[in-house]
Amino acid sequence: MAGEFLWIEGIPFPTTTIKDLKSLRDEFVVRDDDVVIFSYPKSGTNWILEIVHLIHTKGDPSWVQTVLKWERSPWIESITGLELIETQKDPRFYSSHLPIDFFPKSFFKSKAKGIYIMRDPRDIIVSGYHFWKALKISRIPDSFEEYFEWFLQGNVPYGSWFDHVCGWLQMKGKENFLIISYEELHQDLRAGVEKVCQFLGTKLSPEELNSVLKNVSFQAMKDNKMSNYSLLPDTYMDHSKGCLMRKGITGDWKNHLTAAQTEAFDKVYREKVAGLPQGSFPWE
Ligand code: A3P
Repeated sequence: MAGEFLWIEGIPFPTTTIKDLKSLRDEFVVRDDDVVIFSYPKSGTNWILEIVHLIHTKGDPSWVQTVLKWERSPWIESITGLELIETQKDPRFYSSHLPIDFFPKSFFKSKAKGIYIMRDPRDIIVSGYHFWKALKISRIPDSFEEYFEWFLQGNVPYGSWFDHVCGWLQMKGKENFLIISYEELHQDLRAGVEKVCQFLGTKLSPEELNSVLKNVSFQAMKDNKMSNYSLLPDTYMDHSKGCLMRKGITGDWKNHLTAAQTEAFDKVYREKVAGLPQGSFPWE
């Protein structure tokens, strides 16, 4: 249904979310070979997914060019995604925007590999505003000002960014959990891809690595209809109102946030992330 949230345990979710998140949390069995991508929406989820998929195929682009992104790594919390995961062969790839308290408990006892991608929340606000207003599965703001206020209050899809990141950052230092940022991929994509290779235990030849880099560039992903969401059915997205591959830059918030909004953001940010160690985020 367009124009609404699905509220579960006090958190607003898109209407495509399975209603019984409690059963998912208690009953879904994560396997040791699973590779799970975690993120708060608009953090660069689709970028890291493409990187992981191309590392898996050793740079061969045929998988990413012939199979839709949300079939390669389905969303565990979506009705159709969960069904797809249940039909996948090992190793299974899937994704999640769920806050840590909602994710299947079996993950935390498994050897499955998890990658959490994070991004400057001010850029997430801008990216999110442009994306969610095109989607028909969530409440649509009337203006950027309104969306900005919702974001600070946590009244946006998947709830508060602050709670999401503080929750998942508790996994920092675990052997089977990698935390990577949009900003570090942007700054040195080769180093970022090598870091993911090392984490996944995959060795690539220089040619294979170059092919991964070529196929995960902003332009390559924008041109790949299996990855750019242009094939997302009109029932979910009004393609005239927005797209996934929008700008792909860091610091776009400077073009959108007013001085007053920057000040309001900084105040909430300082309060909410005060408990995290200094240097937790590359954008600080
Ligand atoms: P912008 O809206 O700022 O352009 P997610 O995948 O979590 O929904 O995040 C989407 C954001 O990641 C979008 O940001 C999109 O452009 C950016 N992105 C996706 N692939 C990218 C790539 N290959 N290079 C740079 N940015 C990318």
